[in-house]
Amino acid sequence: MKKPENRFHKRTDEELMDFIKKLELQALETAEERLPLYLKVGMKDARLILDVGCGSGFVTRDIARLTKGTVIAIDGSISLLTFAHKILKEYTNVAFCMGDAQQLCFADSTFDLVTCNLLLMWADNPQTVVNEMTRVVKPKGKILASLEPDYGGKIHWPENKKVDPLFAGEAIRKKGGDPHIGRKLRKLFITAGLETVIGIGNNRIWSCEEDKQYYLHSRDFYIKILKDAGLTGKEIDQWEYEFLRSLDEGVQLNFFPQFYAIGTKQKS
Ligand SMILES: C[S@@+](CC[C@H](N)C(=O)[O-])C[C@H]1O[C@@H](n2cnc3c(N)ncnc32)[C@H](O)[C@@H]1O
Repeated sequence: MKKPENRFHKRTDEELMDFIKKLELQALETAEERLPLYLKVGMKDARLILDVGCGSGFVTRDIARLTKGTVIAIDGSISLLTFAHKILKEYTNVAFCMGDAQQLCFADSTFDLVTCNLLLMWADNPQTVVNEMTRVVKPKGKILASLEPDYGGKIHWPENKKVDPLFAGEAIRKKGGDPHIGRKLRKLFITAGLETVIGIGNNRIWSCEEDKQYYLHSRDFYIKILKDAGLTGKEIDQWEYEFLRSLDEGVQLNFFPQFYAIGTKQKS
């Protein structure tokens, strides 16, 4: 078995804090998309929930607040789990566990509900993860995969022919993610034998103020992508000037679909 932390602990302290900041903002910005899904899968009354790939725990905190049940949060990164433990220390209904989503350390048919948020895009083998989530959920129990993007559906204006393709999936692919995971959710869930419903969670277009706030929080991440792609300092400055100007003028538009899948395990 691969040692999870060897695969996950690749960030410096500074990169880790940046990543955590990004996850926090993302959790805040997507709460309105996730909460209706949580109600749909009966999270409130689920007695035992597994949150797979919990990361720094901001999304797990939303789950812990909503449910009357107990949440087990699992991740392969000890650094992220340590952070999650801190921010959730007052939540007596959450327990943590380090482990690999591709080899879950739980018996068959244990949980009423299994969730994951923005995990499948980053999983080495998303089919194995969905199969494992299916194995550990009880018959008639539900699996929810939320916020799985598809950069192929990205719409961005004003256009920049050099930069747009980088932010339309190339950067994700270079970092080992699958930018087209959204369109594959149905196949993943059906292959695991689940009765499956697929949808798009985000039907609201963010305002330019929200897009700008997100950009400024994640600026280092964006600039690094451009540098890694070989853009010169001058080209990056020019791009950023135009990008921020269209946000300040309130005319920029950004959208990319975030898919979700809800699966129900059949009675065996
Ligand atoms: C983008 S983060 C999302 C974290 C959290 N779900 C959220 O939405 O804030 C993806 C997380 O999945 C974890 N992860 C990826 N592959 C994993 C695997 N095979 N086993 C366990 N955790 C995994 C990473 O360590 C990371 O914390």
